[in-house]
Amino acid sequence: MTHQQRVVFVSRARQGLSFTDIQAILGNATVHNRRCDVTGMLSFTGSHFMEIMEGPDEAVTALLLAVDKDERHSGLRLVDQHAIEHRSFTGWQLLGVDRLDLADAVQALYESPAPTQAAIEALLHRLLYEQEFCGLLRA
Ligand SMILES: Cc1cc2nc3c(=O)[nH]c(=O)nc-3n(C[C@H](O)[C@H](O)[C@H](O)COP(=O)(O)O)c2cc1C
Repeated sequence: MTHQQRVVFVSRARQGLSFTDIQAILGNATVHNRRCDVTGMLSFTGSHFMEIMEGPDEAVTALLLAVDKDERHSGLRLVDQHAIEHRSFTGWQLLGVDRLDLADAVQALYESPAPTQAAIEALLHRLLYEQEFCGLLRA
């Protein structure tokens, strides 16, 4: 059986990223992630990214390495990496985080020197809620 993992990273978006830049990331990722069976969610706050990736070990690790080199963001910080039996995020979506409370939570996670597992899980639950109940920009 293929082992699966979930990773969560936060990073700082390059200044002046346009809507077109975000659309380009989304378009590319939608095709690529489907092909390599990676699901999850990318959140963009205007200043920071947070991405959750779930899928086969090798695919997630390879994708993370590629994304780390991307110049459209910097300071990638892996805040969670877990073996999982079941996925929580079954599609792949971009969530534009324009609600201040969520954007603040993502930024706090980026800036926290040692985020607790509880803080990470709490944020993931809120994003799951967004995924299930709110209007998302679907690819
Ligand atoms: C914050 C962020 C998240 C990204 N997430 C993904 C992703 O989930 N899947 C993907 O294929 N590309 C993603 N990308 C784009 C990749 O970094 C990269 O452009 C893609 O792997 C294509 O690589 P190539 O230019 O070597 O073809 C992301 C980029 C950024 C800045």
